[in-house]
Amino acid sequence: MSTIRSTGDTDRPLRILIVYYSRFGAIKELAGIIAEGVVKVHGASVDLLAVEEQPLGEARGDETDEQMRQRRGAISDRVARADALIIGGPAYFGSMASPLKRFFEDCATAESAILDRTRPWHHYLFRDKPGAAFTSSATPHGGNEQALLSMLTMLIHLGMIVVTPGQRGPILEQPSAPYGATAITGPSGHRELSAQEQEEARYLGERVATIAGRLRAGWQAEVAARQDHLLESSAQPFDPSA
Ligand SMILES: Cc1cc2nc3c(=O)[nH]c(=O)nc-3n(C[C@H](O)[C@H](O)[C@H](O)COP(=O)(O)O)c2cc1C
Repeated sequence: MSTIRSTGDTDRPLRILIVYYSRFGAIKELAGIIAEGVVKVHGASVDLLAVEEQPLGEARGDETDEQMRQRRGAISDRVARADALIIGGPAYFGSMASPLKRFFEDCATAESAILDRTRPWHHYLFRDKPGAAFTSSATPHGGNEQALLSMLTMLIHLGMIVVTPGQRGPILEQPSAPYGATAITGPSGHRELSAQEQEEARYLGERVATIAGRLRAGWQAEVAARQDHLLESSAQPFDPSA
């Protein structure tokens, strides 16, 4: 029997969750463009989740413990309901920025009735879902590929199905990384996104939604086949000697 898990009802729109951390706005802009690509796919919807500087479990202002748990639970629900995740953050010292990493550490260890806290990587929040990454860096050789790989490593570890753009177009005319969408923000961090960077971001959103849709269609077909099999076997006359 398959161990692939479903995210529940399958007639609803596909939910693609974009989790991003952005301090100065470039990643936020990229996230918005990736979202445009997601909704190009028929039946796909997008949820944008901005990661904050503080850990999920740290009270905001005069928030009570109960309010903090509710806020954290609402975020876990958004992750749990997603059919696929696209995660993004700036390249900091050649790796994923720490608030993004901490978000996933916080999610994996959140209090939950169904989470086995000794094995957070088996968590239904992530396992068997398509996952992709995007980043921005000040310079082309400032470590954006390495930052993408640090995100993809985490997705692999969590049992997700990694989706990358792959090498696209003639190699010498292709400034982007094959591992995910990227943008170069320049030394001041204010360089506008190029048309190519925007196109890459849109493509990534569209590709993740397309693949998530195919996976769900496969799951639906599997469920239908099992139901047919059950109906067929229950149609057989009862044989007490069998
Ligand atoms: C702490 C810190 C570390 C950084 N490390 C790098 C780096 O290793 N390589 C690089 O090219 N840019 C680096 N940058 C620049 C950021 O990657 C760039 O400003 C970022 O992509 C902007 O994203 P945002 O506008 O969404 O915050 C760093 C910036 C900060 C604040």
